[in-house]
Amino acid sequence: MPQPTISKVFRIRRYDPARDRAPRWQDYRLDCDPMERVLTALNRIKWTQDGSLSYRRSCGHAVCGSCAMTIQGSSRLACKTLVKDIPEEVITVEPLKAFPVIKDLVVDMEPFYRNLRAVMPYLVNRAPPPVKERRQSPAQFELIDDASKCILCGACTSSCPSFWKNEQYLGPAALLKAWRFLGDSRDDAKDERIAAVNGRNGVWRCHTIFNCKEACPKDIDIPAALSQLKRAVVFGSVA
Ligand code: F3S
Ligand code: FES
Repeated sequence: MPQPTISKVFRIRRYDPARDRAPRWQDYRLDCDPMERVLTALNRIKWTQDGSLSYRRSCGHAVCGSCAMTIQGSSRLACKTLVKDIPEEVITVEPLKAFPVIKDLVVDMEPFYRNLRAVMPYLVNRAPPPVKERRQSPAQFELIDDASKCILCGACTSSCPSFWKNEQYLGPAALLKAWRFLGDSRDDAKDERIAAVNGRNGVWRCHTIFNCKEACPKDIDIPAALSQLKRAVVFGSVA
């Protein structure tokens, strides 16, 4: 049976550096299906009420990671958050925390990508290419299965108080990526990877605050992966 529509106010943080002296809130009232996604509501606001609203989106299915933003105070994917998930009448929507705002809900992700590049987010294998693929056993893949689900949306890094304090800290997403390749049985760059995360802005800046785990839209146990990473740094190898 179809559920009745509910009236919601979307309170959106607006900021256009070309026109505004400071960020401001703007309200938009919308009748919503409870099963409607916040991204769909934003699209309807943009298409029917205010074409000047800016935000990122692409896949609409929690795959590309581009629609991460702060919804009701928490980092979430707009395309995965349902209107019924937020019981309050007013739904606040803000840009991801800790990144510079370009316009409205669009942030500059360069600090995020800079930290990601620092951990070599790719497989390094120095053996000649095989005829087919470089194979792994199911047990070998099991070790990195969870970390492999990351879609690089930035929700975890944006939620981490250590990153709020110091954007040079590599942050949970980059460290998770470091673990994903360090733990990969086919990778030949273990020493470089350990060196990359063992600096003053590396894995030891993680104080197991756990915000990253709550924020991850793929339910990755990031603190557990970072604990494995710390152990690998201490012992010089993957356990
Ligand atoms: Fe930050 Fe997550 Fe560590 S929130 S401090 S990276 S456990
Ligand atoms: Fe791709 Fe939301 S639009 S993850």
